[in-house]
Amino acid sequence: MRLYRHLTFCFFFFFRCCLAQDRDLIRHSKTGFVLLVILTLSLFVISCIYVFSFNPVKHSHTWFNLVNQTQSYNVLTEGLSGKKFVWNFLTIPQIIQTTTTLKNHIWMHHHVAHPRNYHFILDEPDKCKQDLFLVLMVPVAPHEVEARNAIRSTWGNESSVQGKAVLTLFLVGLTGGAEAQQQLEEESRQRRDLLQSNFVDSYFNLTIKTMVIMDWLVTRCPQASFSMKVDSHMYINLENLMTLLLAPNTPRQNYITGYLMWNQNVIRNKKSKYYVSVELYPEPKYPTYVLGVGYVFSNDLPKKIVEASKDIKPFNIEDAYVGTCLKRLGIKPSRSPDPSKFRTYMKDSKGHNLSKVITTIARSPKQIIKFWQSVKRHK
Ligand SMILES: *[C@@H]1O[C@H](CO)[C@@H](O)[C@H](O)[C@H]1NC(C)=O
Ligand SMILES: *[C@@H]1O[C@H](CO)[C@@H](O)[C@H](O)[C@H]1NC(C)=O
Ligand SMILES: *[C@@H]1O[C@H](CO)[C@@H](O)[C@H](O)[C@H]1NC(C)=O
Ligand SMILES: *[C@@H]1O[C@H](CO)[C@@H](O)[C@H](O)[C@H]1NC(C)=O
Repeated sequence: MRLYRHLTFCFFFFFRCCLAQDRDLIRHSKTGFVLLVILTLSLFVISCIYVFSFNPVKHSHTWFNLVNQTQSYNVLTEGLSGKKFVWNFLTIPQIIQTTTTLKNHIWMHHHVAHPRNYHFILDEPDKCKQDLFLVLMVPVAPHEVEARNAIRSTWGNESSVQGKAVLTLFLVGLTGGAEAQQQLEEESRQRRDLLQSNFVDSYFNLTIKTMVIMDWLVTRCPQASFSMKVDSHMYINLENLMTLLLAPNTPRQNYITGYLMWNQNVIRNKKSKYYVSVELYPEPKYPTYVLGVGYVFSNDLPKKIVEASKDIKPFNIEDAYVGTCLKRLGIKPSRSPDPSKFRTYMKDSKGHNLSKVITTIARSPKQIIKFWQSVKRHK
């Protein structure tokens, strides 16, 4: 609208100038007419640049991937006026299709698992020190105080391993009760290791939890070298983990490892807690992913995963979801040089065996403490 006002004003001004010299105008009427045409044309060109200028907006790249790998002719531009346009030099039906996908694309930015939809109620923004090497992020339910305390008194109490700074933090969602919230805030004051985000904390929402963890790493802790997402029922041998991370052939970028899951079928049995509908995830199999109990990654990945997740419909299996984001990024999970170090359950979890692993599942918070003590005894 503003543009048209500018145009009218220019014409008006032009005619006033001409009338002031009407004798000259008659004499040079031809020249005047040519000038008018030139002026009109240049105004038109300027206004086109103003509104439509080929100034690609930030998301034009992900947009390409979204539509179809073969349709790379679409350019999303933003004019100087701030208006957004999709340029498609193909046929009309394709333009229509592009416009609908654009709508979906905008919707996707706001899908339920996208971490920017949530904010932190409890935060520790200053915990990430300059020299921090490894951050262990533990998603946990608000009421699981015993699990948090077991971790705090064992591997979560380490602040330095092989001379490298290490930090453990817990992430919870909403408690669903004023009293529970008060207790949590008291625990946070005492321990200063709790992060709380404002999504509903439930098993179904674990994907949101993981993406919020990724977001915290991106926004509060970009300087750390490595991070680990580790469940609250895990025993972690930090010495062995550090040895792996410090090994010269361990990549510092695009690296993620743990217990690898290959060729996994999507569970379509509605009674299973791992059930995922065809609408949420149409393909029959997941890409290779790392089992959610404990995966460790170079700290450049959280940013890339959050970015990729904008275009990937969320589903409730958090580790397979991260795997899907990685596949989109073209990043393959790495096989550990000794895969037997990332265990799930161990038949014979004596100190002798435990001193060789990096992760294993503990059956209870008490067992985490028992595992920890038996490894200490074997040193
Ligand atoms: C996307 O490209 C594939 C070929 O790579 C084609 O078979 C498919 O029909 C295309 N889909 C759309 C929506 O254009
Ligand atoms: C953590 O370790 C220190 C000694 O390094 C100890 O004094 C403290 O009690 C431990 N914290 C917990 C919660 O066990
Ligand atoms: C998951 O979290 C969202 C956001 O807080 C909430 O709206 C939704 O009800 C939760 N779903 C379940 C099953 O808890
Ligand atoms: C634990 O170590 C014993 C030998 O001390 C071995 O026989 C057993 O297979 C090991 N178990 C596991 C799960 O590694």
